[in-house]
Amino acid sequence: MCGITGYIGNKEIVPILIEGLKRLEYRGYDSAGIAVLSDGEIKETKSVGKLINLQDLLEIHPLSGHIGIGHTRWATHGKPSDENAHPHTDCRQRIAVVHNGIIENYLELKHELEKEGHTFRSETDTEILAHLIEKYYQGDLLAAVRSALKQVTGSYAIGVICLDEPDVLIAARKDSPLVIGVGKGENYIASDIPAFLPYTKEAMVMKDNEVCRITKDAVRIFDLDGNPLKRLSFQVLWDAQMAEKGGYKHFMLKEIFEQPKVILDTLTGRLKDDQIDLSETKFTPQLAKEIKRIHLVACGTAYHAALIGKYLLEELAGIPAEAELASEFRYRNVILDKNTLVIAVSQSGETADTLAAVKKVRKENIPVFSITNVLDCSLSRESDFVLYTRAGIEIGVAATKTFTAQMTAFYLLALYLAGIKKTLDAKEIAGLIEHFSQIPQKVSQITDSHEKIKEISREFNRYSDFLYLGRHLLYPIALEGALKLKEISYIHAEGYAAGEMKHGPIALIDENCPVVAMVNQGQLCEKILSNIKEVKARDAVTIGIVTYPGKDMEEFFDHYYLIPETHYLFSPLLSIIPLQLLAYYISDKKGCDVDQPRNLAKSVTVE
Ligand code: AGP
Repeated sequence: MCGITGYIGNKEIVPILIEGLKRLEYRGYDSAGIAVLSDGEIKETKSVGKLINLQDLLEIHPLSGHIGIGHTRWATHGKPSDENAHPHTDCRQRIAVVHNGIIENYLELKHELEKEGHTFRSETDTEILAHLIEKYYQGDLLAAVRSALKQVTGSYAIGVICLDEPDVLIAARKDSPLVIGVGKGENYIASDIPAFLPYTKEAMVMKDNEVCRITKDAVRIFDLDGNPLKRLSFQVLWDAQMAEKGGYKHFMLKEIFEQPKVILDTLTGRLKDDQIDLSETKFTPQLAKEIKRIHLVACGTAYHAALIGKYLLEELAGIPAEAELASEFRYRNVILDKNTLVIAVSQSGETADTLAAVKKVRKENIPVFSITNVLDCSLSRESDFVLYTRAGIEIGVAATKTFTAQMTAFYLLALYLAGIKKTLDAKEIAGLIEHFSQIPQKVSQITDSHEKIKEISREFNRYSDFLYLGRHLLYPIALEGALKLKEISYIHAEGYAAGEMKHGPIALIDENCPVVAMVNQGQLCEKILSNIKEVKARDAVTIGIVTYPGKDMEEFFDHYYLIPETHYLFSPLLSIIPLQLLAYYISDKKGCDVDQPRNLAKSVTVE
């Protein structure tokens, strides 16, 4: 899950490549490099570690030019090192390549190329691309790249420059994201839009199995056989500021505080006169009426949103629903019939396992409804219906505002289907919409009182195990709270359905394993309170996230945070916020790199 960038124009290239890589660093950050065409040579600088190491090297040995490519890496083949950092070049350093993806048949191609006399400098799969292009190069870089790509299996987004064609930048993609930034007398390529947003808001999407020949003044797209393809550009709605910290210490904290606006934006134009309007998705009531079963597929945090979706679709619309881990679903013999709908959830819209699960069911003509945050991403192009969350760019690797936006989308969809399936009457829907529309303001109340959670978090960075407990709609929130703590503080944490405790996990409980539990006014309130009594009886330190002003919470919790009252159905949208903040403050206190946790990347584009 690397980040690639490229530029061709008249501007000095190094600041542009570095700025682009900075904005893509959340995709992978174990090594970085750039290659620039300069003074009749391809000059490259690469360095293991964070981007700053590369910047320091370029301070000492500056490069200059007007065409070049850059890369920030998340290692898949070959450990993080200077040699394995991208770009990679051919035998005579006349061709340079940056790549995001995996070349699955690289070993057999490497052996063939070695037999033909090519020598390799790295352990990467990517380097074979440079040598393959070298093998096929006969004065036409586009043709050589097309021939090379016809040999490879796997996924790729690549940028290529060549000494013999100093005014051409080639890009290509298959199962890995790549967008073009269209400028005036200059053009950009990147794995994601933020990389060129400071320079242009006009973008053009590349689709799978396409190659693009880019000069300063033209962007021409072809298929792998060289047939020209028409492609319109579009204006990006985001602005560069959105990709900056805005005075917050970390992107994650900024994104947690953006959630009231994110929920409001995701609701805007979809809550009309006490009704839900999802006409933009083209998922008409006629189509919806046919749906008898739903499978939800996703990964990580998006899977937890899918679990919330399952509960809501069953509870509100009375539709049988299964939430599935995409990495399992894609290889399982899932029985799907014609009245099944598959809902795919992915903030990036580029997660390999989720995309593969969708491609699998489309082969069986099962309709796909996707919930995603990125306009025109791969998932949206693979779907029949798309409901966009409006969370804006999420830079922090740990998903926060996109999770809340995904949950908001599920409330919209479940209420929409409840109206169509008549499982709720107009009055009931209007009543729930009333509660729904108050959520953004209640989330603000929680973020405004973040100091209270910071206070609670103070003593908890010294523990090495945590348990999160929830029941019903708060069970997925327990899973998500545990995931947040795990991924940014490296503390081991498990989320559990509280009713499961007695069947094993309670054995983990003692004074060294704090327990975080969510309590709302739902019908299971007494059940979870007795679960808390059980863990307290085993000396657990308990933290409560509660909406139950009535009960004396001191009896159950050593620390508790009171969230604003709301209808129990909407408590997931409120309960997750203190859990995000708790994880944030614990990891910040530990001095962890909150925005770029070790071993992770924002969008998992390889299997
Ligand atoms: C969550 O904080 C993680 N970044 C990760 O679990 C993420 O949710 C998962 O990789 C799915 O990403 P997607 O929503 O872009 O598909």
